[in-house]
Amino acid sequence: MANNENHLMDSIVSLCKRRGFIFQSSEIYGGLSGFWDYGPLGCELKKNIRESWWRNTVQKREDVVGLDASIIMHPRIWEASGHLAGFADPMVDCLECKKRYKADNLCEEQGQKLIKTDKGFALPEGIKCTACGSKAMTEPKAFNLMFRTFVGPVEDETSVAYLRPETAQAIFAQFSNVLSVSRQKVPFGIAQIGKAFRNEINPRNFTFRSREFEQMELEFFVKPGTDKHWHHYWVEERLKWYHSIGLSADSLEKYVYKKDELAHYASACVDIMFKFPFGLQELEGVAARSDFDLSRHQQFSGKSMEYFDQDTNEKFIPHVVEPSAGVDRIALALLCNAYREEWIPKDESMGGVIEAEPGKPVPENYEARTVLKFSPRIAPFKAAVFPLLKNKPELVEKARKIFDTLNNRWPCFYDHTSAIGRRYRRQDEIGTPYGITIDFQTITDNTVTLRDRDTMKQERISADKLTDKLQELLAD
Ligand code: GAP
Repeated sequence: MANNENHLMDSIVSLCKRRGFIFQSSEIYGGLSGFWDYGPLGCELKKNIRESWWRNTVQKREDVVGLDASIIMHPRIWEASGHLAGFADPMVDCLECKKRYKADNLCEEQGQKLIKTDKGFALPEGIKCTACGSKAMTEPKAFNLMFRTFVGPVEDETSVAYLRPETAQAIFAQFSNVLSVSRQKVPFGIAQIGKAFRNEINPRNFTFRSREFEQMELEFFVKPGTDKHWHHYWVEERLKWYHSIGLSADSLEKYVYKKDELAHYASACVDIMFKFPFGLQELEGVAARSDFDLSRHQQFSGKSMEYFDQDTNEKFIPHVVEPSAGVDRIALALLCNAYREEWIPKDESMGGVIEAEPGKPVPENYEARTVLKFSPRIAPFKAAVFPLLKNKPELVEKARKIFDTLNNRWPCFYDHTSAIGRRYRRQDEIGTPYGITIDFQTITDNTVTLRDRDTMKQERISADKLTDKLQELLAD
């Protein structure tokens, strides 16, 4: 990471803690690597992400239904899915670029053999990262990314279970039940939001790669042969959703998998990538996974996963297109996308706002502000209400009345402490799009000032028109 990007990431992490978006888990005990807690504002932000996704992916559609499955499931599920065998290889990580390899594959590619030692495995001399060329690699570790636990009072091999490493498998395991109760016909989808757990070797980049995280996954079941059409459809739908929550087209990129990068059963995969300060990284994968998952569950459970198409009298195992996104990564992308440091001239004749230069002192006659330019859709609070002075009962009474009316409709914030400028700055820093100030003029003509977070411009409007005005502004 270049210096500026480092500074940017440090500033975002610091704001997240200072303002209550994200805290280190178990901080009072020194923290636990790869685990994070979302504070009062962080949980509102995540809730808005989930709600927007659910509304868009499930409720607004007639062809998708929801599921909320248990985190711990029968261990055979992970045999069928391939997670039990697939995650158990010795792994090595490049300490420079953090790319992870299966140790034996990496050695073979470089004409060498992984060394077996009495403690496990070791890399032969000279093995390097094929991505960046560094020879600084971690020791090989036989590693299954799934967290193991025991079900019931006896801790032996017969009671071993796993915390799910993805939400998707429960959808496949419940495919027949959901199909029979929902009266859906292929093509249709089952969606789920929930926690997933991976014992990542190298949790890093703040919340980007965590050990406990949340996924929003859709399994969209289609007729074999229509995979390509639906895959294209879902990539475009998912991009539209990202734009709707404020991630512009130029902050995102698609990574289209080449044939030799695809899993043997997959026909296509596109990752939706975001330009984080630490580089272009995956937010979501959209994969066409054929009938692999349902067929494996049919094979392992002995239960049929076939679908009977009444229109054509055909029986088939549906293929699946899977858009799979991470709530925590999206929250981090939204925070990075929204974060700005600005210098504001004290006198308007000096020109407009300028972007702050990292590490440089604030120029004379300018003041600094930090602002999160969240889309109103995902901002934790939609508006803040301020009585100009807290010791004037007529202002306070009016402000409380306005706050109660607005807060009944949208999450709003009431603040009567400190100077009005400081109150504006505090709301800018947490991304509240609008500020409403009740001042002495309000008492005489029932008007208030409405301040726009991004332009900092204020207009006077009648208090009676506030709800309609905000309705119009927040519908954006
Ligand atoms: N069912 C497919 C699946 O789980 P994945 O690419 O492994 O695919 C999907 O994960 C999404 O889950 C990722 O795009 C990312 O947003 C999120 N995710 C995966 N591992 C994560 C981790 N360790 N920390 C945070 N988010 C993660």
